[in-house]
Formats: sequence, structure tokens, C-alpha cells
Amino acid sequence: MHPKKLTIPDIRNRKNGTPISVITAYDYSWAKMADTAGIDIALVGDSLGMVVLGYPDTVSVTMEDMLHHSKAVARGIEHALVVTDMPFGSCNSSIPEAINNANRLLKEGRADAVKIEGGVDMAPIVAATVRAGIPVQGHIGLTPQTATSLGGFKVQGKNADAARQLIDDARALEEAGCFSIVLEAIPAPLAEHITKAISIPTIGIGAGPGCDGQVLVIHDLIGLYDRFTPKFVKQYAKIGEQVVAALTQYRAEVESRAFPDEAHSFTMKAEEMDKLMRLY
Ligand code: KIV
Repeated sequence: MHPKKLTIPDIRNRKNGTPISVITAYDYSWAKMADTAGIDIALVGDSLGMVVLGYPDTVSVTMEDMLHHSKAVARGIEHALVVTDMPFGSCNSSIPEAINNANRLLKEGRADAVKIEGGVDMAPIVAATVRAGIPVQGHIGLTPQTATSLGGFKVQGKNADAARQLIDDARALEEAGCFSIVLEAIPAPLAEHITKAISIPTIGIGAGPGCDGQVLVIHDLIGLYDRFTPKFVKQYAKIGEQVVAALTQYRAEVESRAFPDEAHSFTMKAEEMDKLMRLY
């Protein structure tokens, strides 16, 4: 029996229920593993640009990048909700452009919802997108697409004024119709306060245990990305080290001709080989 596909109301109903598990996914096979593990939301994050495509930042990520990877993830998912990031520049110039790009992520990218970075300033665009029938997840706090304006990859909302702004952002996104909001890199007490102040689930990343769910970048969680590991990341495996060890052994066995051995080769009847030799 196929597991039931999660819906937007299923996620909304998890407010004050079992915490929501979210992990980034960028291709078919990793999405399938996330689904098998029972993860609730597969987020096709624009972190794609940094951990998969080798860009220096998420600003470089294009709509075509997101569409390509969203399709691959959706093909691997039966149960989880697929949420795909709207990349930088795809929703900040006008409402028609935002709706057009969000439509593409659902129709071509097979996403169930889109994620848009930004608070009060983006609320009108979020509201119009939701009115167009596209479920939107918000994202406030440290928003990587505008990290330079925020002073880099720093914890946000540490003083009362900045914290107040984040509460206003969360309320504006709730009002605009978001079905959930990612809170990134904000103090745990503030995240807990925001979580209690709004009626939609909050998904924390570096926002402490008081949120309605948690998200991590898969490459961070399994130890596949070594350029930078934020403090909030818990590494559950060291897959990168295992992969390098396996590849080093493979290279050595190729060079020493230990691979392929008989067990990994195909045979042919000796008489057929003799016949072949007589042909020359
Ligand atoms: O792009 C991404 O992976 C994200 C998560 C870090 C929330 O937006």
C-alpha cells in the first residue's frame, strides 16, 4: 500500500501536534530516501546552488535550476509534501511575475507549494500568490538570498527592535495566507514567542526547540558539505568521509587490477572464444 500523500491541511493541523520534519532534497534518489524515512516535507531549497551546483551563493540560482531539481525530487516522493524555493529575482519585481514563476514551479516542477523569503515587504506578493491558488511557505530571520544586506550569515533578531520586526514579519505572512513559516537563525526564546503568537506552524533552522517543526540541509546533516558548518547543524552521519574512503579504495584497486575480479565480470564459453580466434 502506498503511504498517504501529505497535504497543506495536514501540515497546518500539526500546529501544537507532532513536530514537522523537513529536509532539503535535490534529486530523485535522495528524495526517495527522505520519503522512505517518513520525512514530512521535502524542501527543494535554493541551497541547491551552494551544496550541489557549486555556486558561491544562493543569489546565482535560476528558475531553470529550481525547475530541473524540483521535477527530479517530485519523481522520488509519494508521501512528503514537496516545497520548492522561489529563487532570487523570481518573485521580487512584480506580482504577475511572481505568480507566473510560482505557477511554473507547480506545473512543470511538480511542487506542492513554494517558499518565498521575506517578511512585511514581501507580504503583498505572498498574498497575491496565495490568492492565485498557490500554497506559500514563508521564510524570515536569516534569509540567505539577502544575507549581504543582513550583514552576512548572522543570527537575526537579537535586540528588542529587530525581534519586534520579526514578530511583525511573521504576523504579516500569516495574514497573507502562508501555510507555515521557516524561522532561520534567530534566538530560541524569540522563535518560541513567534510560534505561540501565530496560528500557522513554524519550522525552525537554528531557532531552537520551541518551533512546530525543524529543517536542515541534507548535506549538512549527513556530512557531505565541508565548506562551512553552522553551529545549529547536528551531523548525524559522516557520509562524505565514507565516500572519499570508498573512492580511494576503488582507485587503488583499478590501478592494481584488483578490480574487476571474476565475481564482477561476465564469462563466455571457451569454444565460442576459440571460434572467434579462428575468424582471424
Ligand atoms: O534553501 C534552503 O535550503 C533553505 C533552508 C535552509 C530552510 O531555505
